[in-house]
Amino acid sequence: MCGIVGYVGKKKAEPILINGLLRLEYRGYDSAGIATMEKDGIKTIKNKGRVAGLLDIPEISNLEGTMGIAHTRWATHGKPTDINSHPHMDNKKTTAVVHNGIIENYVELKKFLTDNGYEFLSQTDTEVIPNLINYYYEKESGKTENSFLSAMSKAVKDLKGSFAIEVLNQDFKDKMFVIRKDSPLVIGKGDSENYISSDIPAILSFTKDFYLLDDYEFAVLSKDNIDFYDLNLNKVSKSPKNITWDMSAAEKGNFDDFMLKEIYEQPKAIRETIGARVSKDSKIVLDELDFTKEYLESIDRIYIVACGTAMHAGLTVRKILEGFCKIPTEIDIASEFRYRDPLVTKNTLCIFISQSGETADTIAALKLARSKGAKTIAISNVIGSSITNEADYSLYTHAGPEIAVASTKAYTSQITLLAILGMYFAETLGVAKEEVDKLKEEILEIPGKIEDILKDTSKIKTFANRIYQEKNAFYIGRGIDSCVAMEGALKLKEISYIHSESYPAGELKHGSIALIENGVTVVGIMTDPDLTHKTISNLQEVITRGAKTFVVTNQDLENVTFDEVIRVGKVSPYLSPVLSVIPLQLLAYYISKEKGLDVDKPRNLAKSVTVE
Ligand code: F6R
Repeated sequence: MCGIVGYVGKKKAEPILINGLLRLEYRGYDSAGIATMEKDGIKTIKNKGRVAGLLDIPEISNLEGTMGIAHTRWATHGKPTDINSHPHMDNKKTTAVVHNGIIENYVELKKFLTDNGYEFLSQTDTEVIPNLINYYYEKESGKTENSFLSAMSKAVKDLKGSFAIEVLNQDFKDKMFVIRKDSPLVIGKGDSENYISSDIPAILSFTKDFYLLDDYEFAVLSKDNIDFYDLNLNKVSKSPKNITWDMSAAEKGNFDDFMLKEIYEQPKAIRETIGARVSKDSKIVLDELDFTKEYLESIDRIYIVACGTAMHAGLTVRKILEGFCKIPTEIDIASEFRYRDPLVTKNTLCIFISQSGETADTIAALKLARSKGAKTIAISNVIGSSITNEADYSLYTHAGPEIAVASTKAYTSQITLLAILGMYFAETLGVAKEEVDKLKEEILEIPGKIEDILKDTSKIKTFANRIYQEKNAFYIGRGIDSCVAMEGALKLKEISYIHSESYPAGELKHGSIALIENGVTVVGIMTDPDLTHKTISNLQEVITRGAKTFVVTNQDLENVTFDEVIRVGKVSPYLSPVLSVIPLQLLAYYISKEKGLDVDKPRNLAKSVTVE
């Protein structure tokens, strides 16, 4: 949801900023822009469209400055146009700002500034920021760094909403200013150069030492120095974290797209997520938690709260938590949970899942649960992300950076970690020992079973080629397979733009079957031996109405014919989503490729939804 990058050092800033933007483009790609500090002042270059479009603007070659800020936009306020692109400047052209997030009270601030003689060029919420800073800066007695920080602090105190902001000001030829609240921002420490970025992978090729900013913390960066302040301008001391990610994790390597690479990385991601947490003959190790049997027995219910794919992952663990542990478990969409006064008490455990750890609704839901006294666990893939800073406990998936907008390896790693969490609860409660022991064996075999699926994907590719021009598809399954159906349908619609819906298989005939006609694709997922024959009947119902069927199963299907059957390894239904989703990810991927679409950057979407 918008990417920002900044550089101050000895080198020309422009190529470094463009490189960073290209890596951040998955966060938004409606428009892009950069501002650098030149000898004769701040110069901005921006345009509607992709980052690469900036390179076609002749003036870009005139930028020589060694300090600059840059932005790639996912439009919220105001259409993607040249004027609405960031950076935005104040009326006096002294302050340039790029911003990720939303200023919720920008209408009032715009009115206040307009009443004070300021004019606005764009429809964005962001344009109030440089003008507000300028408004306060002009009221300060001097033009010192302290007075500028004081003006920024006053401006920021007026802002409601979320923001990660980078600022250049004409009076400070070698300093950049940044502050964040509820939007991600990291600072990379180099050798006589420093970096800013919305995420770590974008600047991982330049440094491995990162500072994480807390909400309302400022940083002032120059070539050789980084100072941190709180909102009242007291100095804050921080130490950098060394990130051990390998740079290749953020590169496409031999793959055409990040999504395909990330699909193929799933065995590794799951192995890393399992790590030392599971071994056959010992208890589950989750050192991050200190839950006792008494505590788990006191829980009145568990809420699992997340958005999109992360919510789909949450659905899969209910079977363990309710079936083994007998704890009532509800899975909720964060944007609904936060506004419906959920029944959260001091005895409720709330688990929040977010790959990025920056999803606005999930963070807000977490804050709500805490305010009601619940214990909270964050499950995230990003160390130090906002959700992990807010929660009582944090558990990390170790999927490595996920760059493609459509989530794949994060989803399967989340399911893996949730299953481990469920087993930990069962062991702590002393229940379902036999089942948990079996699950331990099975979970360790999962990466190998994914590798088996990935060995030959030709049947999936051929089916994709058959149906890529279709307009509608339905995904059905029962029990845990209905959760996977939801994820399969989401993958297809988001990257191939084919309308797809998912249903628990028994539900289709209560209305939606009216949409089945000749040629419509129905995807059936069948991994639960107790429910497979039921779903087979539902598939027969659509076949007789002309549907083409694509089946993913680990069951022996006799005397039934489908258009395509993809077999995945046998595993109990508690874990089967990790395998059955793989052919669905690939089906969506190949269809998108057949249609010639940009798989990694589907239209209208962005990774990390930091706005409501
Ligand atoms: C779909 C997808 C989204 C995210 C959702 C939550 O492929 O990636 O549905 O799962 O936006 O994002 P996180 O997990 O970062 O909170």
